[in-house]
Amino acid sequence: MSEAVIDKVDNDGVVRLTINRPHALNALNSQVLTSLEKELTELEAHPNLRGVLITGAGEKSFVAGADITEMREKTPEEARAFAGQALRTIKRLETLPVPVVALVNGFCLGGGCELALACDWAVASDNAIFGQPEVLLGVIPGFGGTQRLPRRVGPAMALDLCTTGRKIDATEALRIGLVNRVMPQAELDAYADELTKQLMGNGPKAVRGAKQAIHDGMDQDLDSALALETSLFALCFASEEQTEGMSAFVEKRKPNF
Ligand code: HXC
Repeated sequence: MSEAVIDKVDNDGVVRLTINRPHALNALNSQVLTSLEKELTELEAHPNLRGVLITGAGEKSFVAGADITEMREKTPEEARAFAGQALRTIKRLETLPVPVVALVNGFCLGGGCELALACDWAVASDNAIFGQPEVLLGVIPGFGGTQRLPRRVGPAMALDLCTTGRKIDATEALRIGLVNRVMPQAELDAYADELTKQLMGNGPKAVRGAKQAIHDGMDQDLDSALALETSLFALCFASEEQTEGMSAFVEKRKPNF
């Protein structure tokens, strides 16, 4: 039987996925990508999904990139197919209708950084190291880094990172907006628990609506995006969640979503 390369824990609809190849610093090979696709198929059909947290096994690495040993012998056609599989998989993760959060617990390099960039936001342990070191291997990022990185941190910083291949620490990642928060590694689990509680306490349709408005709106001009927001805002008033949330406020009690 082959090793399980992704662990899954479902905490009342907040699902935690752990990429589990610590001996290779959780590098993404075809087996991990195929397993991730299978998990995504299940998450897309989940009847009560509230959020997804993604992390790496061990205390050293989130994901140290695509698997270089596997990539080494690829022809251009095979490299295109590999990147295509990763791009499709990462896009499905990105477009899950609920918040997707990267818990970056160490090395976050190359394809690992590209995976984190497809998450709605990332939090990092203070030992995390980020970078797009592909140029040191004679290639460029192929899992979306040349496109999602400039959209998150701006083109100048993305060019700096992608053309020098230099690595940055968690403090710099926070400063440039690559991650939202930095904390001691020992606190990452508590953060995940707190986030799980928060997501479970909020109106699930409202959470999905907020994500949809931001994601879909970012691809549109401002006026169209504002019209989208208005439509989604108005739609909330057709849901029992809005009645419950506002009634709970007026009645000075906790909402029961
Ligand atoms: C395969 C990897 C790996 C990777 C680490 N390992 N990163 N295997 N692919 N990306 C393996 C090592 O070979 C080693 O295996 C084990 O994990 C531990 O790594 P060490 O190098 O011994 O650890 P350390 O000295 O602490 O250095 C850690 C590191 C270094 C700085 C992260 O491993 C490193 O530079 N890794 C490569 C990072 C990288 O270049 N990532 C981008 C890949 S390209 P053994 O068997 O020796 O114990 C990419 C492109 C995406 O992601 C787009 C493609 C289409």
